[in-house]
Amino acid sequence: MEILCKTHQILLLLFTILTISYLQPPKVQAFKAPFHPRDVLPWLPGKVSWPILGTLNNAADLLPSFVGAAFASNNSLNWKGSCFYNNSAWMEFHNKSSTEFGGGTLHIKVSKAHSWTCMDLYIFATPYRVTWDYYFISREHTLEFKEWESKAEFEYVKNRGVSIFLLQAGMLGTLQALWEVFPLFTNTGWGENTNIAFLKKHMGAVFEERPQPWVTNITVEDIHSGDFLALSKIRGRWGGFETLEKWVSGAYAGHTAVCLRDFEGKLWVGESGHENEKGEDVIAILPWDEWWEYELTKDDANPQIALLPLHPELRAKFNESAAWEYALSMSGKPYGYHNLIFSWIDTISENYPSPLDAHLVASVMTVWTRLKPAYAGNMWIEALNKRLGTQNLSLSEILVQVEKRGSSFGELLAIPEQDNWVYADGLWSDGWLLPLSVVYILC
Ligand SMILES: *[C@@H]1O[C@H](CO)[C@@H](O)[C@H](O)[C@H]1NC(C)=O
Ligand SMILES: *[C@@H]1O[C@H](CO)[C@@H](O)[C@H](O)[C@H]1NC(C)=O
Ligand SMILES: *[C@@H]1O[C@H](CO)[C@@H](O)[C@H](O)[C@H]1NC(C)=O
Ligand SMILES: *[C@@H]1O[C@H](CO)[C@@H](O)[C@H](O)[C@H]1NC(C)=O
Ligand SMILES: *[C@@H]1O[C@H](CO)[C@@H](O)[C@H](O)[C@H]1NC(C)=O
Ligand SMILES: *[C@@H]1O[C@H](CO)[C@@H](O)[C@H](O)[C@H]1NC(C)=O
Repeated sequence: MEILCKTHQILLLLFTILTISYLQPPKVQAFKAPFHPRDVLPWLPGKVSWPILGTLNNAADLLPSFVGAAFASNNSLNWKGSCFYNNSAWMEFHNKSSTEFGGGTLHIKVSKAHSWTCMDLYIFATPYRVTWDYYFISREHTLEFKEWESKAEFEYVKNRGVSIFLLQAGMLGTLQALWEVFPLFTNTGWGENTNIAFLKKHMGAVFEERPQPWVTNITVEDIHSGDFLALSKIRGRWGGFETLEKWVSGAYAGHTAVCLRDFEGKLWVGESGHENEKGEDVIAILPWDEWWEYELTKDDANPQIALLPLHPELRAKFNESAAWEYALSMSGKPYGYHNLIFSWIDTISENYPSPLDAHLVASVMTVWTRLKPAYAGNMWIEALNKRLGTQNLSLSEILVQVEKRGSSFGELLAIPEQDNWVYADGLWSDGWLLPLSVVYILC
């Protein structure tokens, strides 16, 4: 369970970060208000402040946004924050520490606060470190980098600057608690309605309540090898996860499975993301009765299931023994987290939902690589190494390597997954399915 939770935390965070495409410019008052309830949020514990914040904003507004990178040049970076309207930042390199590469000072000048009590929260990141600070008073602030960790960090900051992210007030300390309190993920009627509302608003997908009975009597004899099951879960952790997955991928199903009959005619269901005894998400082949029983009675994600039979012509061509061979070779293999993120990114530009860009992806990866190294490795480090044709490079080494080759991180992310890439824990696979085909079938 522990493992499952942690993996999901990373995924949820990523998905959540990806939802910022709906980030609108911060809504602020045009006059200097004396006080705003949001201003006190940073002082409240995350679990308290997050739901309050949720009622003040649209969920997507709550996510961190990349404002730019501060360089050591005379053209300082300028941006508008949610509290301070006129902000600028620049880097100064120095050698106060008398070390090989020296250190630096990030200067930040904030002014034009819209209220007396507001503040802006920031995350500052290089591939080698992540730190944060908040600003409350209009003046010049500084952030010290006493000493660059290595030549690579020194070079990186010289060329790429220090990345700056603006956070909504109240997010301090809640990044880690995000998934626990985010209403999309709550296993309640309220959470379910939030999911439905999100899908409607962002995808135009409408859920119409059917008349009872809600469970159709399926005649198992009518199901054949190759028939497809499209699932849409709308409640609880899986519900929130699938909602965001649908949204980033454009699919109307969040999960799929395939039916297979064995030589005795017994019906089985092959699916990925099945939780095994150790709490890991693996690919599994389950007897139909067990699978159906679980979906009917134990799945608390309120699954909406569509059975999509294979067209008779295609069914005639369906090679059952080849399908079984493949299914058995994948059984027990882990869910393909390695390139979950890559399946959403297939071109360098105009592919990220704006304002998401490669820079932000890199920084989020950086943040999480720093916070949860083991899971970051599983999530993307190996996949990035494959794309670069390297082995065992860390994220910072990858970023430096990309730079050296005169390429960009955006280009690296856009390199498509190759079917023959083998990961340390087995072949990548959501091998059962082509998620995109779901879109066409359901549309
Ligand atoms: C930056 O400003 C300093 C003086 O403040 C000046 O000496 C220097 O030439 C300027 N550099 C560039 C690249 O404009
Ligand atoms: C923003 O601040 C800079 C100095 O930090 C100043 O030169 C500039 O005029 C200010 N812009 C506005 C619109 O007030
Ligand atoms: C910083 O100072 C130390 C000792 O004075 C020197 O060895 C080092 O090269 C300097 N580093 C830089 C980047 O100037
Ligand atoms: C399903 O079939 C069983 C047995 O044929 C029957 O008793 C039951 O009422 C049916 N349920 C629905 C919802 O049609
Ligand atoms: C079906 O797949 C098996 C194993 O992959 C292969 O040996 C066989 O030739 C295939 N049959 C047809 C009709 O393509
Ligand atoms: C990468 O790491 C693995 C496991 O630690 C090791 O077996 C392999 O030799 C390493 N490859 C290189 C090129 O260092």
